[in-house]
Amino acid sequence: MHVLLLNGPNLNLLGQREPGIYGQSSLADIEAELAREAKQESVQLDCFQSNFEGALVDRIHQAMGVSAGILINAGAYTHTSIAIRDALAGVAIPYVELHLSNTHAREEFRHHSFLAERAVGVICGFGPASYSLALKGLLSHLRRNA
Ligand code: DQA
Repeated sequence: MHVLLLNGPNLNLLGQREPGIYGQSSLADIEAELAREAKQESVQLDCFQSNFEGALVDRIHQAMGVSAGILINAGAYTHTSIAIRDALAGVAIPYVELHLSNTHAREEFRHHSFLAERAVGVICGFGPASYSLALKGLLSHLRRNA
């Protein structure tokens, strides 16, 4: 089974970017740890990060017929992107939205998500552990509905 991990803009800077909010781990650290956890569950994790909205849309389209589920931290596009919402709806692949920070405890413009309404679930506020929790939630959903 393949699961796609998508990371949006500025998440390539994890570890250097606002460490008080986003922590010390790099995206490579997070991806490696999650791939290890996925492997223990017999899941192949495919990772993709882009700072470009259209590249994320293209990668979502490519997941059709390949990925059983998607984990997405769309970064700031969470709060702005109807295109990413429509791409996720278009491919009809179950997805979990996740964030390192608790977006509801931050600026008001981060409280709204264009992705949450159609997500299997949303995880936020647990730092890098948000990724593990999102994987667990997605796999439990996929196995319940297999
Ligand atoms: C984020 C939260 C977003 O509001 C922000 O724009 C990000 C990171 C998070 O993981 O906490 O880039 O998605």
